This record gives sequence, structure tokens and C-alpha cells, in this order.
Amino acid sequence: MATLVTGGAGYIGSHTVAALHDAGRDVVILDDFSNAARRAVDSIRSLTRSDLPVVEGDAGDLEVLDAVFDGHRIDSVVHFAARKSVAESVSDPLGYYRSNLGSVISLAAAAIDRGVPRLVFSSSATVYGSASAPPVTEDSPTVPESPYGETKLMGERILADAAAASEMSVTSLRYFNPVGAHPSGLIGEDPSGEPANLVPRIMQVAAGRRDRLEVFGADYSTVDGTALRDYVHVMDLAEGHVAALDAAMTPASSRVYNLGTGSGTTVLQILGAASEVIGSSIPYEMAERRPGDIEASWADCTRARDELGWQARRDLAQMLADHWNFARQQSSC
Ligand code: UD1
Repeated sequence: MATLVTGGAGYIGSHTVAALHDAGRDVVILDDFSNAARRAVDSIRSLTRSDLPVVEGDAGDLEVLDAVFDGHRIDSVVHFAARKSVAESVSDPLGYYRSNLGSVISLAAAAIDRGVPRLVFSSSATVYGSASAPPVTEDSPTVPESPYGETKLMGERILADAAAASEMSVTSLRYFNPVGAHPSGLIGEDPSGEPANLVPRIMQVAAGRRDRLEVFGADYSTVDGTALRDYVHVMDLAEGHVAALDAAMTPASSRVYNLGTGSGTTVLQILGAASEVIGSSIPYEMAERRPGDIEASWADCTRARDELGWQARRDLAQMLADHWNFARQQSSC
């Protein structure tokens, strides 16, 4: 029996495939490579020393799903495949709703049809928006501030309703800010376009591919005026998916968990830590706040600790060292 990982060639997906393999599970990847490099598959195969099956296709395409479920013995699903740009979702909301929710509906229906008992859904802390002061718990109000965030919250709700009407159980994992890479340096964040996130941009400056980092906002009410986030190592997130699949769950139930470290770091603190890890200073300049950004966000991860037995284990220095290790190898290619 195998775990189907949609979006398994992407950033968190590929690390989760590695963690599932380490935990002794067989994996089938389904990916359309719209925002993942094909070379990621070669890297995952060499990392896991296995010829794990990869199906190229859209997780919302019923014919593709039939072929995957008919061709493999699937006993659990981890669903990552989704479009994930906040800005793009504002300019193309219908595209985001169609794609992100179409795949949730088609995949859940196919899994339920085949009697698959477990599904884990890749959600995001973006579902909280700025409605609550941190730390946020899973019971904090959910007020997404973009169509992308809405698709994550609606995805959770659709899956909870589908679980309640079937024998399947569903776990939604709300990630805070994923950073880092596999310690081998073989897999990491390798998006097709220009990165928008902080750490990939810092790595571009360090590698000489960008002159300086723009720090978006210096007038927040934080210790140094810059915005604060809960950065969590992607390997910790990956292990959170294994813990979620292993956790005992009642059929027809659903549960939501925060995955973060439980503490926050400002942009300037990240810059300082990155300079230390990389061994050179990172040029930066203060800039205007980025529209849509919130001041501070970090997680309360008590529920994941108590119910999944999961806690983030890797610190910020490890996240940045592993991220840099991968980025340096990519930029020398
Ligand atoms: C973003 C997404 C969020 C997604 C998350 C993880 C937005 C509004 N939110 O969160 O939905 O789940 O990524 O992929 O896009 N920063 C700079 N300079 C830069 C880039 C970022 O100062 O060049 C700052 C930002 O203003 C922010 C912090 O760094 O305060 C983190 O930014 P980023 O990595 O983009 O993550 P989020 O905005 O938290």
C-alpha cells in the first residue's frame, strides 16, 4: 500500500516524500510540474535510492485520478498540489478558486470512492489573517485576506464535510513560514518563477543574484520595527505529515493543527542570523510596508504536540544553513 502525494515534486511535498520514505512508507507522486522542477524527481529518487512512481497530471483531473487510483494501491493521500501566490490570487481569483477547490473536490471524491481511510490537507496560517493577536491557536478566528487564503479555508471545510459523510478522516495542517531544505542539499525550494518570500530572496542576495534585500516596513510595533513571523524548518513540517498520518483518528472525523515553532523572528533578526550562517553581510535597505502584510504572526502548537506528538526540533540557524546549502548548489549549476 502506498501514500499518494499530490504536489510531491514541490517544496514541502518533496520533503514530505523523503520523510514518508524514511518512515518506511511507499509513495506515489502526482504532480503537473506547473511550479516544480522536473529535476526534483531525480533528486528525490537519488535521495531515497528508489524508483518511486511519478504520475504527471493535474490533481483535479478525474481521468488522471482514475489512472492513479486504479494503477496503485493507495491507502492514504497527502494533498499539496495547489497554486500558492497571494498576489496572483488577487488578480486571478476565479482561476484560484477553480484550481485549488476543483482539485480538493475531485481528489476527495476519488479517495472516498475507493474507500481510502486517511487524507492530510496542506493548509496555511494565512487562514487566520490579521484578526487575532498572536500566538494563534486553531480556535482563533479565521479571516483570510486573499482569495488564496480563502481557498485554503474552504478546502478545509469541504474536506471536513466530505469526511463527516464518509468513512474517511481528514487532517488539515496550517503551516506557518516554511524555511530550509533537506540536509543533503539535494532538494529544497526551487520555484519556477521569481521568489516572493523573504528567505529565498536573502539567499539570492547572498549568491549575488540580487543587489540588496528590501525590508518591507520599519515602523511595525516590534522590537526593531520590522515584521515578525514564525519560521519553521521544512523537514519539521515534513515530519508533521508523517505524524498526522500515524495519529489515530476516528473514521468520518476531521481535525486542524498549527505547525510552527511557537516563536517569532523579525526580518532584521533573520538578516542577522543569515549573515552569520553565510559568513558575509547581506546588503539591505528599508522600504515601504508590503500591501497586505501583517505585523506579527506566530503559532500556538500545543494541539500538535499533545495530539500528534509533534514538535519542531530544528532552530533558525539550522533552517538558514540548510536553505543556504541548497541555494548555493542551485546557483552554481
Ligand atoms: C507569505 C504569504 C503566505 C504564505 C507564506 C509562506 C503573503 C501576504 N503571504 O507569508 O500566504 O503562506 O508566504 O509561503 O504573501 N519581506 C521583506 N522583504 C522581502 C520579502 C519579504 O521584508 O523581500 C518580509 C515581509 O514583509 C514579511 C516577512 O518578510 O514581513 C516574511 O515574508 P514572506 O516570506 O513573504 O512570508 P509571509 O508574508 O509571512
